[in-house]
Amino acid sequence: MDRMLDLVISAILKYLPAMLANGTPVFVKNGTPIDGGKYFIDRRRILGDGKTWEGLVIGLTFASIVGVAYYTFCGQVVLLIYSIVLGLGALLGDIIAAFIKRRVGIPRGKPAPILDQINFILGSTFLVKLLGIDSAAGISITLSEFLLILIIASLLHILANFAAFKLGIKPVPW
Ligand code: CTP
Ligand code: MG
Repeated sequence: MDRMLDLVISAILKYLPAMLANGTPVFVKNGTPIDGGKYFIDRRRILGDGKTWEGLVIGLTFASIVGVAYYTFCGQVVLLIYSIVLGLGALLGDIIAAFIKRRVGIPRGKPAPILDQINFILGSTFLVKLLGIDSAAGISITLSEFLLILIIASLLHILANFAAFKLGIKPVPW
C-alpha cells in the first residue's frame, strides 16, 4: 500500500508540468490560431481554432512555474529544464492529435476518445525520453509511472466531465 502511494505521488510530481501545460490553455478565448487559419490539401483546417499561440504560451508558462518551484526546493536547474521540455512535449502531443483529428474528419472540439485524454502524456514522455532529460535530471520516468499517469488522466477526465455536468456547464455527464 505504501509503495503504491509512493508510486502515485512520484508519477504525479513527475508529470505535473505536463498536466498543467495541457490543462491551462483552456482559459484562452479567441486566441491566434497556430495554423494561421490555413487549410491542408484535404481542404480541412491544418489544426483548427482550438490550437492557439496564446494557449501554447500559457501552457509553457505554467510548466515553467512548476519548474521554478522544483528548482527552488531542490536547487537543481536541470529540473526547470525538465519541466519546460515536458510541458512543451505535452503541448506538441496535443497539436499532433489535433492534426490527426482534422485529417480523419473530426471537427475542432468534437471528441476523439482516448486520443484526447492521452495525447499530452504520449507527447511529453516521448520528448523527455528523446532528449534523455528525465535521467539527466535524476528522475527517470519508469514504465509503471507512465502507465499510472495514463490511468490517472483518464479518471480525472471522467471526474471533470461529471463535475461540469453537475454544475450545468455540460448537458451530458461524458
Ligand atoms: N487551447 C488553445 N491552444 C492550445 C490548446 C488549447 O487555445 N494550444 C484552448 C482552446 O480554446 C481549446 C481549449 O483550450 O478549445 C481546449 O483544448 P482542447 O480540448 O485540446 O481543444 P479542442 O477545442 O477540443 O480542439 P481539438 O479538437 O483540435 O482538440
Ligand atoms: Mg477537446
